[in-house]
Amino acid sequence: MRIFSGIQPTGTGELHIGNYFGAIRRWVKLQGEHETIYCIVDYHALTSEDTTADGLRKARRELALGLLACGIDPEKSILYAQSDVPEHTELCWILGCVASYGDLTRMTQFKEKAAKEEFVNGGLFYYPVLQAADILLYKAEAVPVGEDQLQHLEEARRIARRFNFRFGETFPEPEPIVGEGARIMSLADPERKMSKSAGPEHYIGILEGEEGIRRKVRSAVTDVGLTPGQAMSPGVANLFLLLELVAPPELVDAFRRDHAAGKLLYRDLKEALFTHLMATLRPIQDRYRELAARGEVEEVLAAGAARARRIAQATMAEVRERVGLD
Ligand code: TRP
Repeated sequence: MRIFSGIQPTGTGELHIGNYFGAIRRWVKLQGEHETIYCIVDYHALTSEDTTADGLRKARRELALGLLACGIDPEKSILYAQSDVPEHTELCWILGCVASYGDLTRMTQFKEKAAKEEFVNGGLFYYPVLQAADILLYKAEAVPVGEDQLQHLEEARRIARRFNFRFGETFPEPEPIVGEGARIMSLADPERKMSKSAGPEHYIGILEGEEGIRRKVRSAVTDVGLTPGQAMSPGVANLFLLLELVAPPELVDAFRRDHAAGKLLYRDLKEALFTHLMATLRPIQDRYRELAARGEVEEVLAAGAARARRIAQATMAEVRERVGLD
């Protein structure tokens, strides 16, 4: 099976543990089992009004380093930057001509972002078409995504179907791979998903130092938002979720029993989480430093793009012929 997924180089490009446990760990696992193509979607990042030229350059490089440090192996996967393969935007235009305007206006992510911004750029509206192009360019059959991307994937399937109907069978309809990935919540506001946009107290970066991580874990919100009759507050549930990802099951069970018996000290839970989280992150941080010192990221991305492009060009030759642009 051919698998494709993408991640945006936003902000500094540093990954946080929500990205790692929610997506990247699974990307790493899929590498051995399938043909995997992973894309740093820098064209998508341009839809954010905060993106600057220099910021984008740095974020792309930083994200590539982070992905490699987390275990994306360029021998096993194609890892590249979207803008190095111009076929993405070429296919995007053609797919835009089969996509439904009505569908695009109904995309939840677009509606939410448009409601927040005072200036809404056209890229935000076209975002799902470019995403469909990313996937279909490689005729990917499956796409690991978070729940929040299911609607975009459904749109990619509709676009594939419409293209096939109008121009003849060309693209497989990509299936989402969901589940398994953990939905890590913000430490400071456990009712929302962990993200960098809310501020540094809300997330833990994979490259953060020991002191910072200890402080953030210690100050994680616990018993706020506990509704009567609910066994566990969202904050405590989030700490347990994280602990399960990094600590041995016996330890988690012991803490769960203490919690059920009403004698769990959050201090102990947090201390254990800190220790095991550090043990998980340390090898990633070591690898990151090694890779950064070697300074070969640009070469890795260029080699990835060359491989991606061969597939992309073959698809485009076929697409041009189908639509009569050959
Ligand atoms: N929209 C995705 C996200 O925000 C990123 C993305 C762009 C993507 N193109 C993709 C994901 C193609 C999967 C497949 O997470």
